[in-house]
Amino acid sequence: MENLLDGKAVSNHFKKQIAEEVAEMVSNGHRAPHLVAILVGEDGGSKTYVEAKEKACNMVGFKGTVMRYPDTITQVELIAKVKEINVDPEIDGLIVQLPLPKHIDENLVTQTIFPEKDVDGFHDINMGKLAKGDNSGYISATPLGITMLLEYYNIETSGKHAVVVGRSNIVGRPMSILLSNSSKTGNATVTVCHSRTKNLTDICLQADIIVAAVGIPGFVTGDMVKEGAVVIDVGTTRVDDASKKAGWRLRGDVDFETASKRASLITPVPGGVGPMTITGLLNNTLKARKRSL
Ligand code: GUN
Repeated sequence: MENLLDGKAVSNHFKKQIAEEVAEMVSNGHRAPHLVAILVGEDGGSKTYVEAKEKACNMVGFKGTVMRYPDTITQVELIAKVKEINVDPEIDGLIVQLPLPKHIDENLVTQTIFPEKDVDGFHDINMGKLAKGDNSGYISATPLGITMLLEYYNIETSGKHAVVVGRSNIVGRPMSILLSNSSKTGNATVTVCHSRTKNLTDICLQADIIVAAVGIPGFVTGDMVKEGAVVIDVGTTRVDDASKKAGWRLRGDVDFETASKRASLITPVPGGVGPMTITGLLNNTLKARKRSL
């Protein structure tokens, strides 16, 4: 289809650039960037994501380390691990894969990560910078990846009306701020919609750009999309599909079948935003390494 935003291809393009920078860094006698991911418990989705991040690290020449802990790990033990990594000069970036088990305070853990190593961009200092219009800190990987995709395709955001559906701290909120900030992929007029929004269809119909990040498969349907709008689908929910070997497939927050008939450009699921999230994370990790050089 010709109106597809090919996140997989664009991600490969950026990965190639990152790999070249790493090769040069190493040939100049510096060590490669090192990302550590902490994975707690056995959540299938989290395992898949962390493994994909580890694989991507290897592809671009980073060192990628996954530290796995059982879901019986205590909050004190996990915090102690984070503090150890914070002061390890051989580690540039740390992510703690969410969600964490209920007995662990996710906010406490993410705020313990040093802002300089917070390549997920979840720390209040990094979120705060972004909220103040300063894009120079670490920006959450998915919104960052989406702006890289918009930039690659030269999609104009300035003066456009962007509607972000969802207000999560990981995607919706930082995405809405990024789109409104003064930058190449910003300067948009942004509306944030959420579960209490009234007249959602009417608002979405005014959007030149829709970012769907609610976690409800098929939530944004074709009748909510203005003819010619750009549609970015962040959703990745596993839905049953007996025709697949695994018994499931990924479905986005956008009803692709109907929305793709009206959108000028649209991201598929899989192969849209997902690969760009990983590219965003790699970008942040390279930035962390460069800062410590
Ligand atoms: N869980 C869902 N998305 C993310 C992410 O971007 N980073 C981390 N650490 N956990 C997540």
